[in-house]
Amino acid sequence: MPRQPDAPTQNPVELRGDYSRAASDYTVEQAWAQYTAEEHAIWRDLFARQFRLIERYAAPEFVAGARALQTSPDRIPRIDETNAILTATTGWQIVAVPGLIPENQFFAHLANRRFPVTVWIRRRDELDYLSEPDIFHDFFGHVPLLTNPTFARFMQAYGAAGPKAIASNGLKMLARLYWYMVEFGLLATPQGLRVYGSGILSSKSETVYSVESPQPNRIRFDLERVMLTDYLIDDFQQTYFVIDSFEQLFRAAYDTDFGPIYRKYSDTPGIAPSIVLPTDRVLEK
Ligand SMILES: [Fe+2]
Repeated sequence: MPRQPDAPTQNPVELRGDYSRAASDYTVEQAWAQYTAEEHAIWRDLFARQFRLIERYAAPEFVAGARALQTSPDRIPRIDETNAILTATTGWQIVAVPGLIPENQFFAHLANRRFPVTVWIRRRDELDYLSEPDIFHDFFGHVPLLTNPTFARFMQAYGAAGPKAIASNGLKMLARLYWYMVEFGLLATPQGLRVYGSGILSSKSETVYSVESPQPNRIRFDLERVMLTDYLIDDFQQTYFVIDSFEQLFRAAYDTDFGPIYRKYSDTPGIAPSIVLPTDRVLEK
C-alpha cells in the first residue's frame, strides 16, 4: 500500500480518502455509480453559487474552459467523459486519486500531462471550507484552465521541475510558486483584475475578497519574489500576485533554471505574507 501523505495544513488532519486500493502512482477508479443522491446535490449547490461568481470574477480563459468542459451543473462529473474533451483540447487527462498524494508522484503526473483529482466530495456542513481538497476544488477549480494551451504547458513544466527541486532542497520554493500562481493567482485584464487561481475560485467568499477587498496586497508577478514568499494555509491570503498573461507565467517557469535560485536562497527565511517590499510593484485598488 502506498504511504499516506501528510496534509499541508497548519492543523494536523486525518486524511479521509481510502488509500488502500490505490495503485503505485496513487490512482484509483472513480466508481462514479457509487456517489449518493446527496453527494450529487452537494455538487449541484456548490456549482450553482460558484458558477454565478466566476462569470463576474474569473479570468475569461477560465470561464471559456469551464464551458468547454460541458460540466453538468447537477451531478458530479464523470472523469472519463471529461477526458474525452480534454484530450482533444490540450492532450491532458485527469486521473482519480484518494486525496493528497506525495510530491514526487504529483510532479510525475503533471510532467506527463495528468492532473490528479480527488474522488470524494465534501459534506454539506463544509460547503464554505474544508482543509483537504475534494472533487469540487480539484475539478471545478483546476480542470477548466487545463483546456488553455499556455497554462497547460506551464503546468507540465512545473511538474517537470519537481525532481530537481526535491534533489536541490528547493521544494519549499517550488511549492510557493504553485501556491501563489496555481491556487491563488490573479490576472490583470483590460476589464480589471480577474481570478484564475483554483483555491480562490472554489471558495465563494475569497473569490469576491481577492478582487474587491482593499485589505490584501496585490503585487505584480516576479518569479523570485513569489518563490521566496511564505503563505497562509487556513485563512484568506494577505498578498496576491498578479500576472499579465499566462504566457508571462509559462515563460518565467520554462525559461528559468531554478537551480541557481535554490542555491542562492536555500538558507534565506521566507518573506512574511503581509510584507510589501520597496522593490514590489503594487497594484492600487
Ligand atoms: Fe488545488
